[in-house]
Amino acid sequence: MKVFTTAAELRAWEVTEPIVFVPTMGALHAGHASLMKSARRPGHLSVVSIFVNPTQFGPNEDFSKYPRTLDTDLEICREHGVDAVYVPEVVDIYPVGDATSVIVHGVAEPYEGHFRPGHFNGVATVVLKLFHLVNPAVACFGQKDLQQCAVIQQMVRDLGMRVQIEVLPTMREPDGLALSSRNRYLSPSDRADAIRLPQALMKVLTELQQGREVELTRTEAIQDLSSAGFDVQYLDWIDPVTFTPQTHFDPQYRVILAAKFAGVRLIDNMGLQDLDLINQKLP
Ligand code: PAJ
Repeated sequence: MKVFTTAAELRAWEVTEPIVFVPTMGALHAGHASLMKSARRPGHLSVVSIFVNPTQFGPNEDFSKYPRTLDTDLEICREHGVDAVYVPEVVDIYPVGDATSVIVHGVAEPYEGHFRPGHFNGVATVVLKLFHLVNPAVACFGQKDLQQCAVIQQMVRDLGMRVQIEVLPTMREPDGLALSSRNRYLSPSDRADAIRLPQALMKVLTELQQGREVELTRTEAIQDLSSAGFDVQYLDWIDPVTFTPQTHFDPQYRVILAAKFAGVRLIDNMGLQDLDLINQKLP
């Protein structure tokens, strides 16, 4: 496995096959690993980037304490047969005196965009730069960060980029909690209680599927979570392409949720397809 730490090294790499790219911020877990598995395909090269991107963190967010576990991360990449890992230095991505960034409007504005102002500008900017550096034919993203996928897809469409975006399903713990680098900040008892999040999403989906009114269903779910100690920032039923709220049931729509619990901000989302999968897996 090749490990590049500068843009110059990456450029000097003689690539003979199309690249499937998985951008990450490290602290790799089974969610990232599922993207790597999917990136490994015959006739292609798989490339993972590891870069904790400062511009996507707000002033009160966890940039400095974001977990940095490079040695284990590289080991995980190696185990999954990744062809090359790119671990850029900050100056590769943000040259001194840089004055250019990408702003996505519309889909980047509500929900995560509202609660984390500037976050998606940071994400869009770094992803565009990484795409230019790595030049992938395909890039894989996790559905866990559903709005991020919509923002990237909007950017790729608007800027006429030739990369093909693939969105892969959310990996979950056996009890249903979505894997996230932030789960490690929960105490064992808070971690156990956190399963109320996927449970709430499953309940909302089941009720909407049965024809229950959207507004009533979401208000009740928010109330249930609030009384269990969750500070719900949003819980909504949306079109995953436009991120606009919806008032009727459609199998393509998804329920999205962000809540703070025990000081940790957790996000998750589900659609009808996930419900079938999860019901098969849960005891
Ligand atoms: P990071 O949080 O490291 O996530 C990297 C990729 O892994 C993203 O596409 C994310 O959606 C996916 N992922 C995270 N948890 C997952 C899970 N439980 N199941 C499946 N996929 C999961 O997202 C970022 O980094 C950054 O914003 C980045 C795109 C790298 C730009 O800096």
